[in-house]
Amino acid sequence: RKASVLIDRDFAIGHTDPRLFGAFVEHLGRCVYGGIYEPGHPTADEKGFRKDVLALVKELGPTLIRYPGGNFVSGYNWEDGVGPQETRPARLDLAWFSTEPNSFGTNEFMDWCRAADVAPMMAVNLGTRGGDAARNLVEYCNHPGGTAWSELRRAHGWDKPHGVKLWCLGNEVDGPWQMEHKSAADYGALAREAAKMMRWVDPTIELAACGSSGRNMPTFGQWEDTVLEHTFDHVEYISLHTYLNNYKQDTASFLASPDLMDSFIDEVVAIADAVAAKRRSGKRLMLSFDEWNVWYRTRRNRADRVKEGWPVAPPILEEIYTMEDALAFGGACISLLNHADRVRVACLAQLVNVIAPIMTETGGGAWRQATFFPFAHMSRFGRGKVLRIQAESETYDSSYYDPRGTQEQNFPVRNVPYLKIAAVAAEDGGLSLFLLNRDLRQEMEVSVEARSFGRLAVSERLELRHDDLKATNTKHAPDKIKPTPLQDVTLSGGRLQATLTPASWNVIHLS
Ligand code: AHR
Repeated sequence: RKASVLIDRDFAIGHTDPRLFGAFVEHLGRCVYGGIYEPGHPTADEKGFRKDVLALVKELGPTLIRYPGGNFVSGYNWEDGVGPQETRPARLDLAWFSTEPNSFGTNEFMDWCRAADVAPMMAVNLGTRGGDAARNLVEYCNHPGGTAWSELRRAHGWDKPHGVKLWCLGNEVDGPWQMEHKSAADYGALAREAAKMMRWVDPTIELAACGSSGRNMPTFGQWEDTVLEHTFDHVEYISLHTYLNNYKQDTASFLASPDLMDSFIDEVVAIADAVAAKRRSGKRLMLSFDEWNVWYRTRRNRADRVKEGWPVAPPILEEIYTMEDALAFGGACISLLNHADRVRVACLAQLVNVIAPIMTETGGGAWRQATFFPFAHMSRFGRGKVLRIQAESETYDSSYYDPRGTQEQNFPVRNVPYLKIAAVAAEDGGLSLFLLNRDLRQEMEVSVEARSFGRLAVSERLELRHDDLKATNTKHAPDKIKPTPLQDVTLSGGRLQATLTPASWNVIHLS
């Protein structure tokens, strides 16, 4: 196959916000306990943070971490997780049917963020709790001192405020699986009042209202409209979540599915702008894509989600990612980059062990899953100005199966270009190209004309592929899937030619 691409340095979509390269740590399974935090582990530092995991996190390159949930946050009493560890209560976590020991909480998370060199994004509980607990948490975290909550933080050993800028107003409140799931009107009113008080405590914070937990939700669209009628004047962001799946073992459709993320983003933007228009408002809400990933194998089977007996940190949602997952995941990275004008925050869900790019053995080693690499590439090469793409590529039609509960749902995905691509005029003056060849059988010769760049040379060329699309990295074979140099790349007179192998993720950086 052949594809041709035209880009011009002056024709831009927008700059990537550094917070586009975020991830997510939830009190879920072994994400916290046995993941980022494991006192007694051979690599643990004096705070109990696993240094082997910290090293992989730095290599992965997230900039922002959302915490503490997820479904967990909707039943979380943040006060349980602060103060002397020996007095913290163990609680039943009704989100994941486990016991939460609370030995890791808000202050430990802030210390971990400093160690990992990432910014925190905190979610407040708008399930079982409300505006009062939320505003108290902002005061505990961000107020310098002289009030009960801020002095309590200081008494706990954190003298300086944490300065958390970004806050989620609850989590997936549109979903019946959520503790104290609400109607859009009830949630909208609650989020508005919580937002007002949180911002009165700290006027510098930014707030994200909950949008839909998936494009396949029956309430999608109406939910955003109603929630924003209540919260438009009080928030900067509306959230959206997507987990791609290959339940049907239809690889072509799976690789087409990131294009539905493009649709989802465009649709949420349209609704947010329609709410603005009804108010004659020039304000433009930005999007917080604060959960995205591939997730399906450990999603619908209760045994993968729940271990009986209320264990602490059970091994749940430990999805083992394949080469084909890494390709769909790479497509999702391209979708996010190509919406850099409106998607300002995005969080890969999640970071360690739980549907994660990094796996660990409790007490043992840590390794990279296949999905580690597209994310690391996006974070390393995706900083800068995302360019508009003028591309010619043959297309295919597919039908993507995305069930909700027991409901069968198929979504048509038409005119899917075999080449999915993003181009970023990088901060170093160079050009980064992210190229996904979705043809499962044929090579693709891609020709890219890059205008207004001057003289550039190829400084990095990476390919991620495997003959077996079901190949995985495991503890015993941690490097089965890893990037190798992309062989066939030439550059002459401002035109780049590359041959992409079938079913491959490719990154070319010119500088
Ligand atoms: O990331 C796993 C779960 O997926 C989160 O807790 C929830 O918000 C979503 O449904």
